[in-house]
Amino acid sequence: MQNIEAYQKSFTKYLEDFAINREPVNLYEPVNYILKLGGKRLRPVLTLMTADIFGRKAEMAMNAALSVEVFHNFSLIHDDIMDDAPLRRGKATVHEKWDINTGILSGDAMLILAYQLFENYEPRIFQALAKLFSKTALEVCEGQQYDIDFETRNDVTIPEYLKMIEYKTAVLVGAAMKMGAIVAEASEEDQNLIYDFGRYLGVAFQLQDDYLDAFGNPETFGKQVGGDILEHKKTYLYLKTQELGSEAEKSNLLDLMTNIALSDSEKVEKVKLLFNASGAADATQSAVKDYTKKAFSVLEKLNISNDKKQLLLLFGEQLMNRRV
Ligand code: IPE
Ligand code: IPE
Ligand code: MG
Ligand code: MG
Ligand code: MG
Repeated sequence: MQNIEAYQKSFTKYLEDFAINREPVNLYEPVNYILKLGGKRLRPVLTLMTADIFGRKAEMAMNAALSVEVFHNFSLIHDDIMDDAPLRRGKATVHEKWDINTGILSGDAMLILAYQLFENYEPRIFQALAKLFSKTALEVCEGQQYDIDFETRNDVTIPEYLKMIEYKTAVLVGAAMKMGAIVAEASEEDQNLIYDFGRYLGVAFQLQDDYLDAFGNPETFGKQVGGDILEHKKTYLYLKTQELGSEAEKSNLLDLMTNIALSDSEKVEKVKLLFNASGAADATQSAVKDYTKKAFSVLEKLNISNDKKQLLLLFGEQLMNRRV
């Protein structure tokens, strides 16, 4: 077993060597750009750690880990186009630095590259990885479509929101872990348990992402703070304000969303005040804790040693308290 930083380090080294020096440059330069921008590398670390936990050398899961990270970065390029986002990891998004067409096609290429990495595995493992990947990638598309559909709806419910974030974000975290378990040839029961652990952690992760989108520190967050508010995203903060707020707060929120006299920063500041005053900000933090606890309760059923469980607990706690 290694510590979290060690997995991160060995993954980053492997990623460095993945730079694609092929033509056309306009297709591959954005691929190298987004992959080298950094990021937390949370999903590949989980893949490596899971393989290790189920008794295989983490290196054996390196290509699966890379596949998950390449897919994640592909989804970020397209997500930033869809969300009209200017900043990613503190730098210009691909469609801002190049243009939208470049973002679309370089993203497409990355999706293929992600699949191609499974060719490094023998047929049985290849098939299991590809099957999980296809299911997951399709669910991510479904989640992303719900996210966009919800922007123009005013009757989104919390269960609908939870399904949306499960699909757009959580299933990939679950799949990242299950891939490590597949490479390690863990039992089907363990594969499914670790998937559920990752999926709950992924829900907590997206709830925290919603929170930080409004309340993150602009100096360190790396994304445009308030982007979700400006895009009319139906985040947990928004939906809980609609649920918990006073009548005045609720109608204030609706007025603010359609107020064209306000500047972007005025709008963001006023909406954040409502998120706090209504109790929605606190409710979001409790939901992050609840879903992290749900993930931890899955651990109890897993047939692994206590020190391995400790590592997963530590990972979950760090994720819950993250500021970036
Ligand atoms: C951002 O993911 C997209 C979400 C699912 C919230 P991360 O927060 O893992 O992004 P990086 O890779 O660390 O930049
Ligand atoms: C991203 O959700 C989910 C995917 C990229 C599939 P967000 O739109 O909240 O992610 P960020 O905040 O831009 O990273
Ligand atoms: Mg986004
Ligand atoms: Mg989005
Ligand atoms: Mg977000």
